[in-house]
Amino acid sequence: MSARETTTELQHVHFDATEPRTFRHGTVVAGVPWKSPIGTAAGTYNLDACSVYYNPAILGAVSTKGVSPVPWEGNPAPRTAETPAGTVNSVGLQNPGVDHYLEDDLPRLKAMGATVVSNVAGHSDDDFAEVVEKLAKSEADMLEINVSCPNVKSGTSVGKDPVALCTLLKRLRPLTDKPLIIKLTPNVDDVVPIARAAIENGADAVSLINTFVGMRIDTHTGRPILANVTGGVSGPAVHPMAVAMVYKIRQAFHDFPIIAMGGTFSGDDALEFLYAGANAVEVGSAALVDPAAPVRIATELDELLDSRPELADALAVGKNWIHVQD
Ligand SMILES: Cc1cc2nc3c(=O)[nH]c(=O)nc-3n(C[C@H](O)[C@H](O)[C@H](O)COP(=O)(O)O)c2cc1C
Repeated sequence: MSARETTTELQHVHFDATEPRTFRHGTVVAGVPWKSPIGTAAGTYNLDACSVYYNPAILGAVSTKGVSPVPWEGNPAPRTAETPAGTVNSVGLQNPGVDHYLEDDLPRLKAMGATVVSNVAGHSDDDFAEVVEKLAKSEADMLEINVSCPNVKSGTSVGKDPVALCTLLKRLRPLTDKPLIIKLTPNVDDVVPIARAAIENGADAVSLINTFVGMRIDTHTGRPILANVTGGVSGPAVHPMAVAMVYKIRQAFHDFPIIAMGGTFSGDDALEFLYAGANAVEVGSAALVDPAAPVRIATELDELLDSRPELADALAVGKNWIHVQD
């Protein structure tokens, strides 16, 4: 079915994010049930801002902003720049620290009934271990280890080096029984060896993609727009590359859970990821344009899955599109 046909299918979908709703089609990621295959991508969901627009409990999951052992100020401004098809950001993982998260955002989200993916930031293996140890005792449903942010000076080389990733996972795995998701960078020659290192060393899922390194230059001054010079590109521009990487990992590993993200702006974009082999899809930049976008996209996808029972049935039991074709 072509993108044009699926767009036509969607024309009658009524959308009001504040209306209470439940989705007909869910998924299972590493044993954790999601009420929809759609979740929010880390760093693009803010509880205070977004709960005005919708109840986070209706989504598959809410992946929260990366938390570090102590508060991080992030990078100097300007931190974001527009591109014709997305943004370049160098926020630098600003966050109030894991203790604040454990006292504030996490209990509030859990009290609302949300399935929470806690995103973990660190400059070193010690940082990651400290945060994972604290989150291990929390109500978080899944932990997502961000070894792939292009905007911090250290801690992210791990995501480009299978040996370093193996060492980190050997350290983290004994610290928690919660599902561990490794968030992968697209800034590598081949994403499959990195995914293999995650799979073979105790990860329960991979999520991809984080942002591509990019920059913009102000042509009036001849200088970089971002104070950090380079940043991470996200949004519609990265979608085809993200689909290719998800597809490549799925072809290499038929059963391992994959959470896909990168430029998902419609139910049809999400469907593309599911046909590439993802078990779930997270919405990032679209929510920066329209905070209610994850709910709109989940609603559109629910409708699209109605006419794709084989895919919907596979997702509902933790399988993926490749199993339907086997
Ligand atoms: C402003 C901003 C902040 C982000 N912060 C995080 C973060 O804290 N942790 C993380 O793993 N990814 C972070 N990301 C990456 C997103 O979760 C996502 O992987 C990426 O933006 C691609 O998806 P998209 O094109 O739908 O935005 C951030 C992205 C943006 C745009």
